[in-house]
Amino acid sequence: MFGARCLLRALRSCSSAPCPRQRPAARVSVRGALGVQSANGERVKVQFRNISHQGWIRSIRSQKEVLFLHVNDGSSLESLQVVADSSFDSRELAFGSSVEVQGQLVKSPSKKQNVELKAEKIEVVGSCDAKAFPFKYKERHPLEYLRQYPHLRCRTNVLGSVLRVRSEATAAIHSFFKDSGFVHIHTPVITSNDCEGAGELFQVEPSSKIKVPEENFFNIPVFLTVSGQLHLEVMSGAFTQVFTFGPTFRAENSQSRRHLAEFYMVEAEISFLESLQDLMQVMESLFKTTAMTVLSNCPKDVELCHKFLAPGQKDRLEHMLKNNFLIISYTEAVEILKQASQNFTFTPEWGADLHTEHEKYLVKHCGDIPVFVINYPLVLKPFYMRDNEDGPQHTVAAVDLLVPGVGELFGGSLREERYHLLEQQLARLGLTEAYQWYLDLRRFGSVPHGGFGMGFERYLQCILGIDNIKDVIPFPRFTHSCLL
Ligand code: 4AD
Ligand code: MG
Repeated sequence: MFGARCLLRALRSCSSAPCPRQRPAARVSVRGALGVQSANGERVKVQFRNISHQGWIRSIRSQKEVLFLHVNDGSSLESLQVVADSSFDSRELAFGSSVEVQGQLVKSPSKKQNVELKAEKIEVVGSCDAKAFPFKYKERHPLEYLRQYPHLRCRTNVLGSVLRVRSEATAAIHSFFKDSGFVHIHTPVITSNDCEGAGELFQVEPSSKIKVPEENFFNIPVFLTVSGQLHLEVMSGAFTQVFTFGPTFRAENSQSRRHLAEFYMVEAEISFLESLQDLMQVMESLFKTTAMTVLSNCPKDVELCHKFLAPGQKDRLEHMLKNNFLIISYTEAVEILKQASQNFTFTPEWGADLHTEHEKYLVKHCGDIPVFVINYPLVLKPFYMRDNEDGPQHTVAAVDLLVPGVGELFGGSLREERYHLLEQQLARLGLTEAYQWYLDLRRFGSVPHGGFGMGFERYLQCILGIDNIKDVIPFPRFTHSCLL
């Protein structure tokens, strides 16, 4: 019905015949309406006639002669107050129903909002059976409960705020790179390489999969990407600074609160870069600039998360933003862990991976300031990392950024740009044939370069203080769960 009305409206506006009808109502969003104020910050004095507002009812209060509705359209955490004559009241005007209201935007007598919409016409676009609707008016539902309704949870305040922050942070990241002179590259989602070499790949085949290997759709086995890095490295051979920001897939058998099977990664690659120091500067700047932009563009949404989901997070975030991030080497990190009074499930030892419990301890030890851990053992890291040639404890120029509450947020490195060393590394791993093209990059105008990847959901967890990664992505995918 709604579609038909839109079509009719479109046809009317397309008609070349002069139209004697009244001008259509001007649509206003909550954000637009509540932003209405004079230049000196005073509340509006003027009336705006013939306004239309569309959204979903968040609350309804019926008094003797007046009806108050709060209508939200997702543009803001706040809703627009609609004031109507009680004669408009009907059973269909209920929590969750979608409505279109026409009327005048007037100064509100209440201190709670600048303006309100005085209704002249209210149309219920879609009614909502409040009894069957899984969310109840005025109830604060736990995030675990909301997770059962991926098709409806975006209508709650908390998910609305998280998703608006997510959208702002996405735009802020793009601006950060654009302002710093990076070129945005769309790296492929389907690829034949396993960049990280961890074997956590999802293979891609048509659903009518043919079992004979030579009959693979692409002739060779292909996978969903685990990282756009190698494709970015190709591009960094032509553009000195590139970035990509897209979905990434890992078949990690983990139900943890910081792992997803599909997540978004922000990756950057910089040519003519010779030191981890320079790389870490970009990482820190990306972290801080994005957070500041989000804080200034959607303070209310951030505040809601900090207040109701993560008390104390506001101060923790400020602490991270005002301090310089710290730097320690992997070797120092292992020493700190060995000297810790705490008993770890995994005994810290040089040459072994750092586990979540170790990362947490290190961040606490560093006063809850994000800490870069650099120069990891060569055996722990993928083939592309630059050899520090420093035996007997042989390391590569790798860097991970560990942050409070989340642990590893960024992973990066200088890349091995020296042909012979890279060739040796590939030969050791039996990858020479598959990575001839990658070796070519070192044959034709090779340059020192480096880059990093930041898990976007972990970043949102870190700034908002949200405990579970499943609550910062619209549709979480993880082992044994792919709803919708
Ligand atoms: O440390 P990782 O594996 O690094 C890379 O993939 C590099 N090739 C990136 C690069 O240098 N261009 O992953 C980078 C980040 C991690 O630090 C973490 O924040 C996030 O991606 N990440 C995940 N986030 C959610 N769910 C998972 N399963 C994740 N695995 C990694
Ligand atoms: Mg990593």
